Amino acid sequence: MRLKDCHNFKDFRRLAQKRLPSPIFDYIDGAADDETTYARNAASFNEVDLIPNVLRGVKDVDLSVTVMGQKLDLPVYCSPTALQRLFHHEGERATGAAAAKFGTMFGVSSLGTVSLEELRKKYSNPQVYQFYFHKDRGLNRAMMQRAKEAGVEVMMLTVDSITGGNRERDKRTGFSIPFRLNARGLSQFVMKPAWGLNYIRHEKFALPQLDEHVNMGNGTASIGQYFTEMLDPAMNWDDVAEMVDLWGGPFCLKGVMAAEDAVRAAEIGCAGIVISNHGGRQLDGSRSSFDQLDEIVQAAGDRLDVMLDSGVTRGSHVLKALSLGAKAVGLGRYYLFPLAAAGQPGVERALGLMQDELIRDMRLMGRTRIGQLTRDNLRFRQGVAS
Ligand code: FNR
Ligand code: LAC
Repeated sequence: MRLKDCHNFKDFRRLAQKRLPSPIFDYIDGAADDETTYARNAASFNEVDLIPNVLRGVKDVDLSVTVMGQKLDLPVYCSPTALQRLFHHEGERATGAAAAKFGTMFGVSSLGTVSLEELRKKYSNPQVYQFYFHKDRGLNRAMMQRAKEAGVEVMMLTVDSITGGNRERDKRTGFSIPFRLNARGLSQFVMKPAWGLNYIRHEKFALPQLDEHVNMGNGTASIGQYFTEMLDPAMNWDDVAEMVDLWGGPFCLKGVMAAEDAVRAAEIGCAGIVISNHGGRQLDGSRSSFDQLDEIVQAAGDRLDVMLDSGVTRGSHVLKALSLGAKAVGLGRYYLFPLAAAGQPGVERALGLMQDELIRDMRLMGRTRIGQLTRDNLRFRQGVAS
């Protein structure tokens, strides 16, 4: 199987699984507890159907949107994700370059493996810096200052990771940052020598957003431990209101699921929220983002930009979310598996396929502008509230 044989998310996932040592594949693919929310994320899009219009003249389709003041050529962006150079040696450089090619936004994680400064300098497309709120307030201020000096456009505070999710696949393999694996996990590396050779031939693993401040890169901390020990479980609305003021630019909360929290985010001056359950990796049993979208747009959509991620793998998922009032949609594993499978050409192919699907589906829907999508072109299936 080669990159050109990949036509959808499942194909990329299969190719990534072939290439990656299984503990790394499981880190990307895995979710919390019984992974029910992970499964629900994908299923929820199928409970709403699109109603197309015909004969409207759909020659020129414009997919651009404006979100939190940023103009994007596509209504999808690459959501911030950790440890990308572990998946492929090009890591965040591949993601940033591919997002730039398609004129869209990309996120850089606090646990990113390329510095936000380097990425900001290299690419001109809007960059989001994903922030984790640490117990050390001085560290939080220093990290924000750094992002501001680098010229990052949007600050995105992740609020669903106040403690580590229970990722049992990682417990079985001993997955940690960068690599502390138990014997079972380590044995899996022997099966993928090409990945291993590639990994040791390239720049040493590092977490440049944090290395200056925290000792994270030596393999002694797991993701769960990082969340639980370094992040501040006391974080509250007052702390975030202070951060919003300090940042002074577009600020957004990632991981909002309740309508009342969306309203509160607007009240403290957030420009946006991302409805997200972290791809099912935090609270298992949580509702899917798409199931919460309508209620949240109704409650707060006129006061801030509502975005959504978790479970998006098709152009039609994106069109359904936009129809319900989302301003843009975040992709996670949708671009991570292509990154793992083939680096920059992989992410470019994935974004290209998404762009093609969006244009095709817009035409089939009888639409030429994203703003023409409304809830009138959707029907909820029986038994699902509308
Ligand atoms: C993530 N996600 C994430 N979110 C975040 O705020 N900071 C981070 O560092 C990471 N890291 C991360 C690593 C991996 C391997 C995955 C799969 C996810 C969550 C991510 O931004 C996004 O919310 C989800 O991936 C969306 O779900 P889908 O699209 O993967 O189903
Ligand atoms: C994850 C973190 C790093 O989901 O956000 O693994």
